Amino acid sequence: MSFAPRKLIGMLLAPGLLAGMLAAAPATATYAQDAAAAAAAAAAATDPLLAGADAERGKEVFAKVGVCVSCHGWDGDGTGKNPRSEGAAALLRESTLDAAGFKEIISCGIPGTPMPYHDNQAYKDDRCYGMTADMFEPGQEPHKGKSIKPEDIINLVAYIQTHIQGKPKATYEDCADYFGASAEKACAFMKR
Ligand code: HEC
Repeated sequence: MSFAPRKLIGMLLAPGLLAGMLAAAPATATYAQDAAAAAAAAAAATDPLLAGADAERGKEVFAKVGVCVSCHGWDGDGTGKNPRSEGAAALLRESTLDAAGFKEIISCGIPGTPMPYHDNQAYKDDRCYGMTADMFEPGQEPHKGKSIKPEDIINLVAYIQTHIQGKPKATYEDCADYFGASAEKACAFMKR
């Protein structure tokens, strides 16, 4: 069968999730704070899916375990330098996904785009969008990313929702906070 990811995902995810995905289409980096994204981030504080999640551990997953930074950039504005999606990865700061939506996309990826899946069992059974690997047309197969354990996917979602989603454009202070001891070098380009 052929696979049209937007359509299929649209049928399977709640309408709000699809709206969020479309709203996160690559945009220029000169954006104001996105009100819908800020509201989605605020709702994360009481989301039962994130109960007990460790956002600090999630930062390590974002930077090192899952290397999300390579495509999404340290600040989630999609300016990572991975040649597979240079500058084109979704603006996570403007994403309006809820915790369940992030969990699904991180676990299952977005087939037909460079966004990889991180659940190492994905597409072996039908846990992702009801699809198994053999159902994809050549060239439409989902990309495999780094494996991330289920509890670390939840920690990662907590980090994104507390530190990235709904935030206005990153400042020098945000950069210094992210890079800590190496901020002087890493963030020099942001100094005004
Ligand atoms: C190889 C590059 C690449 C890597 C690595 C990557 N992504 Fe993505 N990601 C993308 C691209 C490109 C898109 C946009 C896909 C589209 O819809 O066209 C995307 C989309 C997303 C979305 C959907 C946002 C929305 O609101 O629709 C989320 C969430 C996301 N990525 C999170 C992550 C996380 C977390 C990681 C690390 C575990 C990660 N990504 C790793 C390239 C990447």
